[in-house]
Amino acid sequence: MSTHSMPIRIYVPKDACAIACGADEVAEAIAAVSLVRNEPVEIVRNGSRGMLWLEPMIEVVTTDGRIAYGPVEAGDVEGLFAAGFLTGADHALRIGKPEEHPFLAKQTRLTFARCGIIDPASYEDYRAHGGYRGLERALTLGPAGIIEEVKTSGLRGRGGAGFPTAIKWKTVADAKGDQKYIVCNADEGDSGTFADRMIMEGDPFELIEGMTIAGIAVGATKGYVYTRSEYPHAIWAMEKAVEVARANGMLGANIAGSPYSFDMEVRMGAGAYVCGEETALLDSLEGKRGTVRAKPPLPAHKGLFQKPTVINNVLSLTAVPHILADGGQFYADFGMGRSRGTMPIQIAGNVKFGGLFETAFGITLGELVNDIGGGTATGKPVKAAQVGGPLGAYVPTWQFDLPFDYESFAAKDALIGHGGIVVFDESSDLAKMARFAMEFCSVESCGKCTPCRIGSTRGVELMDKIIAGERVTANLATLTDLCQTMKLGSLCALGGFTPYPVLSALNHFPEDFGAPPRVVLEAAE
Ligand SMILES: Cc1cc2nc3c(=O)[nH]c(=O)nc-3n(C[C@H](O)[C@H](O)[C@H](O)COP(=O)(O)O)c2cc1C
Ligand code: SF4
Repeated sequence: MSTHSMPIRIYVPKDACAIACGADEVAEAIAAVSLVRNEPVEIVRNGSRGMLWLEPMIEVVTTDGRIAYGPVEAGDVEGLFAAGFLTGADHALRIGKPEEHPFLAKQTRLTFARCGIIDPASYEDYRAHGGYRGLERALTLGPAGIIEEVKTSGLRGRGGAGFPTAIKWKTVADAKGDQKYIVCNADEGDSGTFADRMIMEGDPFELIEGMTIAGIAVGATKGYVYTRSEYPHAIWAMEKAVEVARANGMLGANIAGSPYSFDMEVRMGAGAYVCGEETALLDSLEGKRGTVRAKPPLPAHKGLFQKPTVINNVLSLTAVPHILADGGQFYADFGMGRSRGTMPIQIAGNVKFGGLFETAFGITLGELVNDIGGGTATGKPVKAAQVGGPLGAYVPTWQFDLPFDYESFAAKDALIGHGGIVVFDESSDLAKMARFAMEFCSVESCGKCTPCRIGSTRGVELMDKIIAGERVTANLATLTDLCQTMKLGSLCALGGFTPYPVLSALNHFPEDFGAPPRVVLEAAE
């Protein structure tokens, strides 16, 4: 047994996924075994690198760099010590250098560049890895210069709608108001998505920096992060970072000695899908029940407490520090068409290698599901992937050459939304999934408008009849008509987009509905 005078640093993720897989127990076991063996270690709780099938993935700092092992269970820890993992020795769970793992090596990480590498609670670590470079440059540019830089970057909202961020910011900057707000939408309700959570847990200062830059750009002095009760680890990490940023003069009055002031807090919703919709979110943030507001007025003019408000997704705001640090053009040089920069894509569902894959827009869905994701976890052929959350289309494998790009997806009646991909194998019944989409809408509907409130309930009933083989052709025609009404008559995208998963399932997988409905639907469209 060797003894070390200097403690060896070991990273054990404090990411919610890693914790769910036993990371806390692994950290405890490492501490206990190191004491018994008198081999001192310093455990740092980092974020996840995003290779979720390897969690808990721990990393030991050796003379040869960081060496990863995973997935580690508490019961493996004795054996890891015995094998000499503190010097990076061989072991069945040894992965090697994380950055050389193909899943990471193939990525272009801007937003997630630090995630899993730094100590999320350490201001010094954040700074040492390029943190606050963006804010420093923003302070030299001033509000108009910041907005110009964001415009050059081509950044579009990562929450789903893909609206150009610079236009939103300019509208709020130009709006009159004694108080303006920055609201970060961290509700992250889409199925198969976890990027917002991961970045808040793994690099919370990045979001603080992005919100601060947004505040300076539009003249807002107060910000809120709105997230859900299911995200306790993210809330903890954010609140801790806010406190540390404040103590370091990076939040509050005269940020970094500048004339600008900005402060922020984290608020927790009770968890409703519709509270991710920006106006329902504002109602919820104001302490009301989350129901969708009619527009106009836009939140940019009358938002939180009727004041001009920027609402942006976590991933939009966390892209901003990089855009400011390296220039809008640097960011715009990644991507394709009108989709500029990188997208943190989340690969989930029935997939072998699920996780966070940040890359420039333009990669095909097939590459993501088959090459990066390794196909299904069950080993059966892939049938479809639902992209963009519960309101996204089921994309069949024959459309897997589709590039990840807002316009290419829209052209196929699909959406990339928040970048979540949920993979299904051939045993999935898409008729049941279409029914589920309708049921989800009926359960989550805020009830404000009729096409969604009533339509989704009638839609479930129709789906039940179709699945039971009752008057299939007639009921499919009624369903198509209903979908059209929901699409055109709903107040927000919950009711308005539910037809997409339903119709895509019907169109692409008619055999699952026991009928050849393809012709019926195309004629009705
Ligand atoms: C039903 C529904 C749920 C939504 N959920 C979210 C969400 O969880 N997170 C998010 O950022 N945007 C969500 N959105 C989109 C927001 O309304 C809004 O477009 C977004 O927060 C704007 O930020 P961005 O421009 O940075 O994307 C949702 C929209 C709808 C209709
Ligand atoms: S579409 Fe649904 S969720 Fe949206 S406003 Fe109407 S009832 Fe509410």
